[in-house]
Amino acid sequence: MTTEHRRGTVSLRQVSGSARSKKVRVDLGEESSFSSLPTPVKVGDASYFLVRGRDGYKLLSTICPHQGGEIMDEGDDLFVCDGHGWQYEKGEGICTNRADFRMKAFLVTLQNDRLVALVPDQ
Ligand code: FES
Repeated sequence: MTTEHRRGTVSLRQVSGSARSKKVRVDLGEESSFSSLPTPVKVGDASYFLVRGRDGYKLLSTICPHQGGEIMDEGDDLFVCDGHGWQYEKGEGICTNRADFRMKAFLVTLQNDRLVALVPDQ
């Protein structure tokens, strides 16, 4: 399993996994290598943004919770979906058009100066 972020391809290793939970722990790399957030991260075929929200790091899925469009970062204050233009704030992924919608979030923890994500197995 590999992941990429804007500064190039990062070789990731799967830390652990469980067939029952269908989630795996993925080592994203040294915390210091992510100096600018949000940053795109790819794990297998899935795309995320690594962000730092109120409660720490997390991965936000780029799949729009509305109708599955692709959420993009065009450098503005908000993420925007290519489907219908809904916008999402960059810390928590809450939709500014419909507060009951939010980007799907996945836990990222800091372990020995490395960021480790718990994401769906691909
Ligand atoms: S699919 Fe994203 S706003 Fe509709």
